[in-house]
Amino acid sequence: MDNNKRPESMERITTPALAQAFIDEQVAAVRAQVGDKKVLLALSGGVDSSVVAALLIKAIGKQLVCVHVNHGLMRKGESEQVIEVFGKELDANLIYIDATDRFLDLLAGVAEPERKRKIIGGEFIKVFDEEASKLEGISFLAQGTIYPDILESDGVKAHHNVGGLPEDMEMELVEPVKLLYKDEVRVVGEALGLPHAMVYRQPFPGPGLGVRCLGAITRDRLHALREADAILREEFDKNGLAGKVWQYFIAVPDVKSVGVKDGKRYEGWPAIIRAVNTTDAMSATIEEIPYALLHHITDRITHEVEGINRVLYDLTPKPIGTIEWE
Ligand code: XMP
Repeated sequence: MDNNKRPESMERITTPALAQAFIDEQVAAVRAQVGDKKVLLALSGGVDSSVVAALLIKAIGKQLVCVHVNHGLMRKGESEQVIEVFGKELDANLIYIDATDRFLDLLAGVAEPERKRKIIGGEFIKVFDEEASKLEGISFLAQGTIYPDILESDGVKAHHNVGGLPEDMEMELVEPVKLLYKDEVRVVGEALGLPHAMVYRQPFPGPGLGVRCLGAITRDRLHALREADAILREEFDKNGLAGKVWQYFIAVPDVKSVGVKDGKRYEGWPAIIRAVNTTDAMSATIEEIPYALLHHITDRITHEVEGINRVLYDLTPKPIGTIEWE
């Protein structure tokens, strides 16, 4: 039997009861596969890896070693939430690495989007590998592969590990949600008790805020972007847009304009709001945000965020604009 193929008979997981049955079945399967050995997981804080972590903690507890690499390009509060939920509440074996300086030093002065992406991806693998090599007795690597990952690769997705781990580390894969669709992963995550905000987190690119701090990243502009983005998220939450809009964020270009603050000249960057709806991210439409809310968000961002003196709303659908700016 091809165990990368979802059986026709497999019911879509839509209710807590179905999720619980799936969890019980996977807990038993993981225990049978892993025995008393150790499993390593790169925990990004994204939906899939978070659900796999919670499932494996239930199945094998401290035999799971989670590694969370903070590349310094996370949204406000995200690494903190990983530590809170997994390190504290679920009492996981969690290794937290703050690699902010490493990433930002490497990225200094690099303006070209593809080079930025390559640096971020490459360094991520390096940091993860370094940590993995320090650990002893790890026999398995867990991954948050989901069914669309398998389908999109025509069933032949090279199931190479997240990190292209050192050659001498031979590890068998543990992929408990590989036959599930995204909506099912979320139902399972909620049944495992993960916070709603974590399970229904909007998509977030691997290179994180790195592709939204446009051009060469500087710490001050990255900080301004993170704070402005947090305000946008808070206002979307409060005003019922969070569950309605597929993806929303701020981008901050490397451009300053003249403004005036407290009677003095105030040069600052513009914060650009992007809020789009889509089903597959191949094309996207623009959400109609009420003007009153746009004014309120503008007021908050320009008053609360150091370095920002304008707020713009990007009205460009995809195509012609991609969702991200870089
Ligand atoms: P674009 O900008 O191509 O984005 O319209 C489509 C969707 O993909 C996300 N995205 C990424 N996700 N790594 C990721 O994991 C990336 O490098 C990346 N670039 C874009 C983007 O946020 C949007 O949801």
